[in-house]
Amino acid sequence: MKPVVFVTRRIPESGIDMLRETCEVVVNGEDRVLSKEELIEGVKGKDALLCLLTDKIDAEVMDAGKSLKVIANYAVGFDNIDVEAATSRKIPVTNTPGVLTETTADLAWALLMSAARRIVEGDRFTREGKYKGWSPMLLLGRDVYGKTLGIVGFGRIGEAMARRANGFSMQVIYYDENRRSPEEEERLGVRYVSFPELLAQSDFISVHVPLMEKTYHMFGPAEFAAMKKTAILINTARGPVIDEAALVEALRKGDIAGAGLDVYEDEPLLKPGLADLDNVVLAPHIGSASVETRTKMATMAAQNVLAVLRGEVPPNILNREVFD
Ligand code: DGY
Repeated sequence: MKPVVFVTRRIPESGIDMLRETCEVVVNGEDRVLSKEELIEGVKGKDALLCLLTDKIDAEVMDAGKSLKVIANYAVGFDNIDVEAATSRKIPVTNTPGVLTETTADLAWALLMSAARRIVEGDRFTREGKYKGWSPMLLLGRDVYGKTLGIVGFGRIGEAMARRANGFSMQVIYYDENRRSPEEEERLGVRYVSFPELLAQSDFISVHVPLMEKTYHMFGPAEFAAMKKTAILINTARGPVIDEAALVEALRKGDIAGAGLDVYEDEPLLKPGLADLDNVVLAPHIGSASVETRTKMATMAAQNVLAVLRGEVPPNILNREVFD
C-alpha cells in the first residue's frame, strides 16, 4: 500500500508530482485555509502532512493524525507548528530554508524603495487623474542611497538585504543575538551595534527575526520613540514582531516617517487605521511569492516528506533529536 500524504492547500504541481510517484496524495480541493476541524479530519489515517504557515499544527492535530510520520511546512518560518509537541510524539518537522532568501530580500527591498519614494501614493495619484504636470514639490520622498540601513536579525535574509544595500552605498548596521566574525562583517560591509544603537542610527530598519517569545512585540511604543522621525520600518518577517496598533499610532503621530509591511499581527486582518494611512505600503504576505521560488519550496517540502517515508533523516529537519 502506498503511503498517503495530506496537502492542506494547492501548491505548485512540481511538489505534488514528486509525491505522486510513490504516494497517494490528498490535496484540499478548495483554495482556502482549512478550519481546525477540517485539519483534524484531514490528517486522520495519513502518513505525512504537507502544511502551510496558515495552518496551526498543534498537539490536537497531531493526536488526530496518529499515523503521521512527518510534518513538512511549506515555509521557512515554522511558528505555526508546535515543534515541541511534535518532538515529544517523535514526529519529524521540516521547513524550506534557503530557497526563498533572495526572493524575500527582493520584496523587502521593493517595500523599502516604495515607501521611501512614495511609489504607491504616486500610482494612486496618477490613476485618479490628479497628475496635472511636473511640480517641484510633488510627492517628495527620501533618498535611499548613502543612508543607514539597520538590519534586525542577521540570518540568510538579513544578509541578502545587506548585499543589496551595498549596491546603494549604504552604511549597514545590524543587530542579532549572534554576532558574525570580524572577517564576515568585513566581507559583507556591515557593522554590529546594540538594538538601541540600531534604533537611534538607522534611516531604514528591516526586520528579519523569526517569531518567538522573545521577538514578540520587539517593536512597540518605546522603540518607535527611539527611532528617527524620518525613519522607515520594513517588515517581511512575521507580523507579531511589531505591535501593529502602536505602529499605527506612531505613523499617525509622525514618530516615524513610514513603513512597508508584508506581514501583519492577525493575518489577514489589519489593525484599525492601518489601511487609512498614506505613509505605509501594504503587501499581502508575498515575500516568497515568485513562480521560481514557490516551485522550489514545493519540491523541497516534497523531498522532506519522501525522505522520511524512505526512513531517512530529511534534509531540512527542525527537530533532529526525534531520530536519536
Ligand atoms: C515563510 O516561508 O516563512 C514566508 O513567510 C512565506 O513564504
